[in-house]
Amino acid sequence: MKKIIIEGNHPLSGKIKIGGAKNSVVALIPAAIMAKGKVKISNVPNISDKDALIEILKLLNVDVKKSTGIIEIDASNIKNCLIPESLSNKLRASYYFMGALLARFKKVEMYFPGGCNIGSRPINLHLKGFEALGAKITKEDSKYLIEASELKGADIMLDFASVGATVNLMIAASMAKGTTHIMNAAREAEIINIAELLNNMGAKITGAGTEEITIEGVSELHEAEIKVIPDRIEAGTYIIMGALLGDNLTIEGMIPEHNIVLLNKLQEMGVNFKLQNHKIILNKSNNLKATSVRTAVYPGFPTDLGQPISVLLTQANGISLFEETIWENRMGHVKYLNMMGANIEAERQHARITGPTPLHGENIIATDLRAGAALVTAGLIAEGTTVINDADHILRGYERIISKLSSVGANIKIVEV
Ligand code: EPU
Repeated sequence: MKKIIIEGNHPLSGKIKIGGAKNSVVALIPAAIMAKGKVKISNVPNISDKDALIEILKLLNVDVKKSTGIIEIDASNIKNCLIPESLSNKLRASYYFMGALLARFKKVEMYFPGGCNIGSRPINLHLKGFEALGAKITKEDSKYLIEASELKGADIMLDFASVGATVNLMIAASMAKGTTHIMNAAREAEIINIAELLNNMGAKITGAGTEEITIEGVSELHEAEIKVIPDRIEAGTYIIMGALLGDNLTIEGMIPEHNIVLLNKLQEMGVNFKLQNHKIILNKSNNLKATSVRTAVYPGFPTDLGQPISVLLTQANGISLFEETIWENRMGHVKYLNMMGANIEAERQHARITGPTPLHGENIIATDLRAGAALVTAGLIAEGTTVINDADHILRGYERIISKLSSVGANIKIVEV
C-alpha cells in the first residue's frame, strides 16, 4: 500500500503533458489478441491498470514487448485458458477479454471483473449482447463460461448506453458472421479509438462515436498499429487543479473538444483560462461562481470528473448543486473533504456544496481512483499537510502523477507503507 503526502498551497506553473487515455488503452490491449500478427500500440500511459492487463496476456501465452510508451502484442501462440479471479478482479477492463477470446476461440472462461467500488456494476448488458450474437452462457458463482459454435451478427439495442458493453460487443461482433447493429451505443471518444484499431486490424466498423454502430463481421484480423488518444479525464483533472492554483499552468497534448463540457462549465464559473490548439493555459481564479453540475452519459458532463470538480465547487461563492447520475456510490470523497473543512451535504447521488471554505490538511483515504484524484486536488489547496492513504487507486489511472505535479511546483511525494 502507498500513501501520498502533500504540503498544500503552492502555486502551479509550467507544463503538464497529458498521457494516453486509460479507458482506451485498457480495451486496445485485450482487442489486440484477436489479430494474427503483431499489434503495436503507442502513446501508452504508464498506469497500473495496463500492467494488470499485461499479466493476463502473459497467462494467455501472448508475447509482449514494452518500451517507453509502446507495447507490441503478438498473439500468434496464444493459448485460451481460464483467467483466474486473482487477475480478473484487479480491474474492470479485464472483461474485454470476454469479447476478444469469444471472437477468436468461440469460448472464454473467466471470473467477474474488478474495478473501483463505485456502484453495483453489473455486466448484464455485455452478456445479453453475447447471447444475441449466439453465445451460450453458464455461470457458476462468479465464474462465467461463454461459448458459441458460431457467432452470428445481430441487432442489439442497449438498455443503457454502456461504454463497456458497447466496446465488448463491437469487439466480439468484429469476427461474427454477418452484420451487427449496436443501437443506443455509447459515444465516447475512446470508442472511436478502439474502433479505429479494430478497423486497422481489418474489421469493418462504421458509426463509432454515434448512437448506432454497424459491424460487418470478418473471418480473420491481421497486424496493425494504433496511437492511444490523450486522456480527457487526466486533462480535466489537471485543468481543475489549474483553476485552483494555476500561475500560467499549461496543460498540453490534449484535445480541447473532448473536454468541451468541462470548459463550458469552468467558463460559467468564471475560471481564467486561454485555449490554444492542443493546450490550455490556466490561472488561479478568484470570485468563482457557484453552479450546478449533473453528470450524464457522453456528451454530458463526464462522471469521471464529478469528484474532481466537487473540490472546485467548494471554492465557489454560494451554493452549488451536484448530481451523479451514472454510479450509485461515487461520493466516497465527500466525508474526507468535509474533514478538511468543506461544507458538503450529500445524500446518495446528490450533494449541496456551500463555498467558499478554506481547506486544511488531514489524514484521509482514497476510496477509489477519481475520489483519490479529488483528494489530491484538495490536498494541493489545503493549508498544511495532507496524507492520502490507499493511494494505489490513484496510480491505476494517473501516470507519473507525483513527478508531473512536482515539476510544476507542487510539494507532493509518495511513500510505501
Ligand atoms: N451498466 C449496467 N449493466 C451493464 C453495464 C453497465 O447496468 O452490463 C450500468 C452501470 O452499472 C452504470 C452504467 O450502466 O450505472 C454505466 O456503465 P458503463 O458500462 O458505461 O461503465 P463501464 O464501462 O463499467 C466505463 C469507464 C468508467 C466510466 C464509465 C462511464 C472503463 C474501464 N471504465 O466504465 O471509468 O465511469 O465508463 O463513463 O472504461 C474511471 O475511469 O474512473 C471509471 C470508472
